[in-house]
Amino acid sequence: MQVTVIGAGYVGLTTGVTLAYLGHRVTVLDNNRKLIRSLKSGTSPIYENGLDVVMQQARDNISFTCSFSGVNDSAIVIIAVGTPPKSNGNADLGFLENAVLAVANQLGAEKYPLIVIKSTVPPGTTYGVQVLINKFISGKGLRPGVSVAANPEFLREGNALSDAFYPDRIVLGAGDQSAFSLLKELYAPILEQNFEPPHCLPGPKGYSGPALVETSPVNAELIKYASNAFLAMKISFINEFAVLAELLDADIVEVSRGMGFDHRIGDKFLNAGVGWGGSCFGKDASAIISIARKYGYTLSLVETALEVNRRQRKIVTSKLRSLLEKVPGSTVGIMGLSFKPGTNDIRDTPATDVISELLDLGVFIKVYDPVAMENYRKQYPDLKVEYAASPVELARDCDALVLLTEWDQFKKADWRKIRQLMKGNIFIDGRNLLDPRAMRNWGFVYQGVGRGFKTRELEPAASGVEP
Ligand code: UDX
Repeated sequence: MQVTVIGAGYVGLTTGVTLAYLGHRVTVLDNNRKLIRSLKSGTSPIYENGLDVVMQQARDNISFTCSFSGVNDSAIVIIAVGTPPKSNGNADLGFLENAVLAVANQLGAEKYPLIVIKSTVPPGTTYGVQVLINKFISGKGLRPGVSVAANPEFLREGNALSDAFYPDRIVLGAGDQSAFSLLKELYAPILEQNFEPPHCLPGPKGYSGPALVETSPVNAELIKYASNAFLAMKISFINEFAVLAELLDADIVEVSRGMGFDHRIGDKFLNAGVGWGGSCFGKDASAIISIARKYGYTLSLVETALEVNRRQRKIVTSKLRSLLEKVPGSTVGIMGLSFKPGTNDIRDTPATDVISELLDLGVFIKVYDPVAMENYRKQYPDLKVEYAASPVELARDCDALVLLTEWDQFKKADWRKIRQLMKGNIFIDGRNLLDPRAMRNWGFVYQGVGRGFKTRELEPAASGVEP
């Protein structure tokens, strides 16, 4: 099937590359010339597990362009442009409108492509776009018959391709049967799981294909917001209990484990830490709060989830304040800048809040991240921090270290050396990545998040625990 994907960001590129790999003929369109040039030369500007490899394998089926002139040849046009938040929390639909009108401008044939909105948009937008586009082409003297469907994505950065090949569900929101049929044809290889998996992305154990949800556009749109708001709330919930656990000298890791065995709760998204970040949770939670407000309704749980997350990011500073002898003038090393491991994305990353609070307190900051430092430097060129070349380099002369992203590399770091090079011995594990007893035995004053430490500090190392 001939498909155009508009928007070559995380979602658009992942979708385009996946569909091309599955045998569709895909054109990825973006108005960013530099980005398209780089994609044409075979390099993806996005750090995403497996993307380069799969893009290379699918190269015969994928092309990149800045021009809308070919959209009319496509059976499906997928719109995956950004819907960033405005200052009032509402989603900015400017890019979407531009894309829709540019497509509408090309229509002229008897047969129209199906327009599919993959961008996260306020409920009602898909229907609104259908009205807009048909009005536009009627104005040009064409028959108004364009169908617009909603097909939200649930891709996690760092796992985006895997989530695209092996999703939990595919949600289709459409108003007519022919749209459902065409979309089911598009996703047939994923629904039936009858493709050869890319070597670098084997299917998850026991996976037998996604659930298919065929529903109305407004339901599909709301499924996306409700899912992200729920996940953000779930993390904020465990983070709130993490604070309580510390007060009670309990261990939130054990509490999460004990909760997670209940199938009604599930063990995912129950890891306490310095809070969630990234481009979706905050943006989508704010957008749905503001949509509800327009209808005179308050989404109290979602508002609180945001508030708890803001509060959670402050725990690092408050822990350091109680542990460091003198905060101003001390040196703190930040381990991890990206909002989570497996990506160089620094949007709404907790690291930015932590760094800014510590700088305000007169702390000297060193930072290290295996992949996100270049992005960080570009985004904050004037920030007064020192970039280190490795975790060991970071540790030199630090009074305290703060781990904010649970990169695998940190798990395997040379803690003996790190401890030796530090001036102080304080370690704040903002993701509960490391073994508290092992860290204490290396000589660190170790604190995780929500892990009672008063009594545990006195516990000897369990046998088999390093060192
Ligand atoms: C999210 C949704 O998962 C995805 O379905 C949607 O399409 C886009 O938004 P993403 O932002 O890539 O994906 O990251 P995700 O893996 O969901 O993590 C979000 C944040 O939550 C990260 O900062 C992560 O560190 C944090 N998190 C996650 C926790 O703090 N604890 C957890 O238990 C899980």
